[in-house]
Amino acid sequence: MPGGRRIAAVTDAHFDVAAGECLALIGESGCGKSVLASALLGLLPANARTAGEARLGDLDLLAADERTLARTVRGRLIGLVPQSPAAHLTPVRTVRSHLRETVAALTGTRGRAALRAAVEAAAARAAFPADHLDRHPHQLSGGLAQRAATALALVGDAPLLLADEPTTGLDRDLVDHTVDELRRHVDTGRRSLLVITHDLAAAERIADRVAVMYAGRIVELADAKAFFGTPGPRHPYSRGLLQALPDRAFAPIPGMPPELGSLPEGCAFAPRCDRATDACTALPPLADGIACHHPRLPEDLRA
Ligand SMILES: Nc1ncnc2c1ncn2[C@@H]1O[C@H](COP(=O)(O)OP(=O)(O)OP(=O)(O)O)[C@@H](O)[C@H]1O
Ligand code: SF4
Ligand SMILES: [Mg+2]
Repeated sequence: MPGGRRIAAVTDAHFDVAAGECLALIGESGCGKSVLASALLGLLPANARTAGEARLGDLDLLAADERTLARTVRGRLIGLVPQSPAAHLTPVRTVRSHLRETVAALTGTRGRAALRAAVEAAAARAAFPADHLDRHPHQLSGGLAQRAATALALVGDAPLLLADEPTTGLDRDLVDHTVDELRRHVDTGRRSLLVITHDLAAAERIADRVAVMYAGRIVELADAKAFFGTPGPRHPYSRGLLQALPDRAFAPIPGMPPELGSLPEGCAFAPRCDRATDACTALPPLADGIACHHPRLPEDLRA
């Protein structure tokens, strides 16, 4: 950009998600979660640059051209469950109309009767009630809009579901219900699910593994049971995130995340970290699921 500068929104992100597995990507606002999701879908702004590879089967998503992304990736290889589903749906069209178009485009179903049946089957897969199919997005509750969006995401039988903040704005019961539904589609379809969320309770409920991001880097990759339960997180930032929860210590992490354009030398968390030493002026690599020079060890994990 003329007069502008480049920032590294996501750096050295290495992870995999297996079929039948859910990986939750968590971290504070601005840490790079949505940029990572957009990179997988080929939806970064035109002036963005990527490096490395993101394999889905034989395809490298980062190297795919727009035609491949439009024809074979979006909807077919990756089903996107969007944030704010009501806003994602076209306000002047009914849910049936959305589903009909997507079913026709992704499955090739033709003919009124066949399309009608396929649309109703698609709605049923996401537990969207058939008698609400002729409603417009503004006539749906948050939960039903979420189910409509999930139904659309499932039409193409994509092996990867990507859900970016799927529970924003929902009350607790609906959050639980939404994540349970998403989990069901992973379990029954043997799909992979990458769920991006601020909501740690939702992540605990749905995820098999957790990736914690800070300032554009994954700082911890852990088994969800161990992370949320015993022995708990090993990275000081991850621990801070959990300790900030109202049902834990309710103690916020001091300070603010850094500007991506002016990261400190070495570990970006150092200015906020009570374990920082001189060693932390060198960037800690992600090794054995943790990027920290002084991770919490088994003996102090319950402290
Ligand atoms: N088009 C863009 N141009 C410049 N910077 C951008 C652009 N899109 C995102 N960024 C920057 O990249 C960083 C990561 O943004 P991103 O949207 O991925 O955060 P996030 O982790 O999804 O946050 P949130 O939890 O608030 O959704 C932010 O600092 C943001 O300002
Ligand atoms: S590397 Fe150092 S500053 Fe960074 S999280 Fe670990 S102990 Fe804290
Ligand atoms: Mg985001």
